[in-house]
Amino acid sequence: MKKRLGILLLFGLLFIAFLANWTYSYYQGLEEAYLPVLETRPLPVIPSEKKVFERSKYALDYLNTPNDENHQRTLERYYDNRAYVGAPPSIPHPVAQKLGIGGKVCLQCHQNGGFVEKFNAYAPVTPHPEMINCKQCHVEQQTQSSFTASTFYKKPAPGVGSNNALPGSPPTIPHALLMRENCLACHAGPAAVKELWINHPERVNCRQCHLPSQQEGKNVEEFVRINTYSE
Ligand code: HEC
Ligand code: HEC
Ligand code: HEC
Ligand code: HEC
Repeated sequence: MKKRLGILLLFGLLFIAFLANWTYSYYQGLEEAYLPVLETRPLPVIPSEKKVFERSKYALDYLNTPNDENHQRTLERYYDNRAYVGAPPSIPHPVAQKLGIGGKVCLQCHQNGGFVEKFNAYAPVTPHPEMINCKQCHVEQQTQSSFTASTFYKKPAPGVGSNNALPGSPPTIPHALLMRENCLACHAGPAAVKELWINHPERVNCRQCHLPSQQEGKNVEEFVRINTYSE
């Protein structure tokens, strides 16, 4: 009899322990997984990397905007308007204030883009709205040809489509990042060049997957200082 009672007591205790344990872990499971961020000082930002996110609030709009088939810009036209790869493009349209330096007048159309009826084109979004002296670098087109023949040679552009190591892997960035930190300005939206248009504007952290290819540094010649003091 005593033995039986002892075993019953043992089971009773085990059951209570089980209940207590179960309730405890049940309530623990209800708690949200949450790690408090202890912000003692502002997090440091790397300016050139921060600009990747400059237009990210428009990413979902870009995703849902169809590319207007009738007003697409081609890569050929994009290159055609630049003296060399990476040079500031000339202004291909008339400018109202001839003497102004640019600023707000230009940003009306170039800050966020949009269709411009009178030029029958979408205004390309500027990757650098903060550089307000636009005409310091962008000049109006005066002629379509140069006055005299010259031997100026345009270095060929890196081009698109052959910058990935494997089919389907993210292509490396074939261009410099200076003046091109704000990826979405050129790679998404109806004014973007159709060959550069991406199907994943919502993956806003571009440089997480795309790395600079460093092609630029490849052809730099070795620097040799001429020794003017040799006998
Ligand atoms: C009324 C709207 C409007 C205003 C104002 C305007 N632009 Fe434009 N801009 C456009 C449109 C539209 C295009 C595209 C033209 C085309 O593709 O034929 C364009 C094209 C350009 C381009 C060529 C971009 C490229 O990649 O080839 C540059 C550079 C430019 N504008 C600079 C300026 C500057 C600088 C100002 C201010 C002085 C200015 N724009 C004012 C609408 C405007
Ligand atoms: C310090 C020189 C400089 C200033 C100032 C400047 N830009 Fe640019 N801009 C450039 C360069 C360089 C490029 C070409 C970037 C490239 O192709 O790599 C460019 C490209 C552009 C483009 C072409 C984007 C595309 O998708 O084709 C537009 C539009 C533009 N700038 C508008 C402006 C406007 C508007 C202002 C004034 C608010 C301005 N820029 C001020 C140097 C400048
Ligand atoms: C001023 C406009 C501009 C900006 C801003 C820009 N790009 Fe580009 N991108 C281009 C052009 C033009 C090309 C085509 C190759 C060339 O001429 O450099 C290109 C090519 C590429 C390619 C290769 C595509 C292929 O199919 O091979 C990748 C990847 C790329 N860019 C990523 C980026 C990333 C990431 C950023 C932001 C850090 C960025 N780009 C910012 C204009 C731009
Ligand atoms: C999660 C990784 C990832 C992120 C983040 C990402 N990409 Fe891509 N990207 C890819 C992959 C993978 C491909 C190749 C797709 C293919 O070949 O089908 C690609 C292709 C491209 C291309 C070549 C054209 C095309 O659509 O195939 C360009 C240009 C490009 N990405 C630019 C960007 C820009 C700009 C951003 C930021 C807004 C960005 N990518 C963010 C993975 C990424």
